[in-house]
Amino acid sequence: MTARFLFFAVVTLVIGTLAVSMFDDHDRSDLHRDRASQSAERVTAATVEPTFVGKAVCGECHQDNFQLHQNSGHAQTFHAANQDNIVQHFAGKTADAGTPHGFYTYVSGPDGLQVFRRRTADASDGDVDDETFQYALGSGQNAITLINLDSKTDGDPVLLEHRVSWFRSHGGFGLTPGHLHHVPEEKRELFGELFEGRPLQQCVWCHTTSGEVIGDEVKDLIANVNCEKCHGPGSEHVRQARQSDTPPPYSVGKADWDFESELQLCGNCHRLPRHVDPKDIRDYIPMMLRFQPIGLVRSACYLESEGQMMCSTCHDPHAHFTSKTQQQYIDDCVGCHQPDNDHHTVCSVSTSEGCIDCHMPAMKVEQGMVFHDHWIRVRPEN
Ligand code: HEC
Ligand code: HEC
Ligand code: HEC
Ligand code: HEC
Ligand code: HEC
Ligand code: HEC
Ligand code: HEC
Repeated sequence: MTARFLFFAVVTLVIGTLAVSMFDDHDRSDLHRDRASQSAERVTAATVEPTFVGKAVCGECHQDNFQLHQNSGHAQTFHAANQDNIVQHFAGKTADAGTPHGFYTYVSGPDGLQVFRRRTADASDGDVDDETFQYALGSGQNAITLINLDSKTDGDPVLLEHRVSWFRSHGGFGLTPGHLHHVPEEKRELFGELFEGRPLQQCVWCHTTSGEVIGDEVKDLIANVNCEKCHGPGSEHVRQARQSDTPPPYSVGKADWDFESELQLCGNCHRLPRHVDPKDIRDYIPMMLRFQPIGLVRSACYLESEGQMMCSTCHDPHAHFTSKTQQQYIDDCVGCHQPDNDHHTVCSVSTSEGCIDCHMPAMKVEQGMVFHDHWIRVRPEN
């Protein structure tokens, strides 16, 4: 099992009605449900079921958030594998996948990236088979992993996750997280690991705005984590906003939207305690570093702030996290931890600098990927 699949997000199924071209964002009429859309629905239930309009429409009125989002990781979570920005990392290169998998060479083709497999690094070794990967997941900020969808003889979909991924940390290939101890059970698994059912649907759910895998296709695919993944389908809001400058609350503006709603929203994908083995949380194994909400909810800052601490206390959910300076993050800490605030203690070591390095340091996980420990605390090494 890939470690990712030990974690279960709430998967809401998408019942598609339109066959729309893959990366086209417009004219949607899906019935996608998530938390935000459910609350949007309560308001508009008497009128019309909201449907997806696509982020370009949101951008007409919310230009700032649109621009910020364009440069964020969320706008680049799901790609066609033969897009230029993916191909540049793979095409013409060779990866050593270990025994018995062998060596992979990559060639861009009309349906994706074609992977040729040999037993040895020697190109004249004729023993080649190949597999085409249609999609590439991840922005490349950390990594890019190839996947391929197929249907079995009974029509059920099956997903092949490639054994090798591209990692920014070493600018080249390494084993995909979870694959180190994977033993191929059938010939195709010499290219990676096969998944079916819930883990397969979740892989697509967390990286897209809408899309249900049926057979070897993603139905009603809207790639990437766009506006409407977080805010819910926007057709009703757009209709109301075209009639009035003060449309009724839609998602985050609603009365029942609070810090816990936000934590649930982000945690659906970034993981919450309910997604992981309680033992792993207790031991706080290194993998927990990748799951920021899990760290945050055990921090005194979160537990003792009476609903004032959430992801957006420090992050603009529309912007890339590197668009803020270190000093701006420190200002977030000092916003609460300041001498003239009776509710907060002040650090005896420093009241103005170095907070992140000491209390939520960047730490390496597998393949040199770096994450900040969101369990904010006085650490043993402090
Ligand atoms: C539908 C799933 C999903 C939801 C919901 C989601 N994220 Fe993400 N998030 C992702 C994925 C996938 C990536 C990885 C992007 C990449 O490969 O760089 C990511 C990356 C990030 C990053 C790092 C990249 C960047 O652009 O800064 C931050 C920070 C982040 N998310 C914060 C949040 C916050 C805050 C929320 C809630 C308001 C949230 N996310 C909700 C899936 C999600
Ligand atoms: C529960 C939701 C969820 C599932 C399921 C999921 N991902 Fe992700 N994925 C995320 C989030 C959130 C991030 C951002 C992690 C971060 O940067 O903090 C991410 C990041 C990534 C990245 C960027 C590198 C990294 O690890 O940061 C790749 C590549 C990736 N996922 C591939 C996959 C593949 C392939 C599958 C399925 C076979 C999958 N993911 C399943 C939520 C998910
Ligand atoms: C990862 C989840 C996520 C995505 C993607 C996202 N938003 Fe948001 N958005 C939020 C959250 C959470 C808030 C409330 C917290 C805040 O205002 O920072 C918010 C607030 C807003 C607000 C009100 C506050 C403000 O900043 O003006 C607007 C308008 C908005 N979003 C529009 C958009 C648009 C347009 C897009 C797409 C281009 C988008 N959002 C994409 C999560 C998201
Ligand atoms: C015709 C212009 C228009 C379009 C198109 C539009 N909005 Fe808005 N939106 C507004 C106005 C006006 C407000 C209220 C004032 C404000 O907060 O800026 C608003 C408020 C919001 C808010 C904050 C208040 C709340 O109820 O949550 C969010 C979030 C939001 N819009 C998201 C979106 C998203 C997502 C889209 C695309 C699906 C979108 N908007 C499309 C005009 C528009
Ligand atoms: C929303 C307000 C808020 C923000 C923002 C905030 N904290 Fe806290 N933090 C608290 C509260 C409340 C406590 C518990 C009471 C206290 O010690 O002040 C706390 C406790 C702590 C503790 C003691 C932890 C323990 O286990 O005893 C440390 C260390 C800390 N915060 C560091 C930080 C750092 C570093 C940042 C910025 C990355 C930060 N805080 C941001 C509210 C906040
Ligand atoms: C007290 C401030 C604070 C809060 C609250 C916070 N973060 Fe962060 N986060 C940071 C800092 C600081 C960084 C590193 C920024 C840098 O060095 O550029 C970071 C980085 C990240 C990254 C990039 C990968 C990593 O771990 O380095 C992701 C993804 C992320 N945060 C998600 C979240 C999510 C989801 C939440 C809510 C559950 C959240 N954060 C709440 C301060 C915070
Ligand atoms: C060089 C490392 C270092 C830096 C930089 C640093 N701290 Fe600390 N911090 C510590 C240590 C060590 C303790 C425990 C001190 C003690 O027990 O007397 C601590 C304690 C704290 C506490 C708990 C205080 C208490 O009495 O319970 C808070 C809150 C805190 N730091 C916040 C911050 C903030 C905010 C910043 C940035 C302005 C910061 N720290 C910078 C090392 C550091």
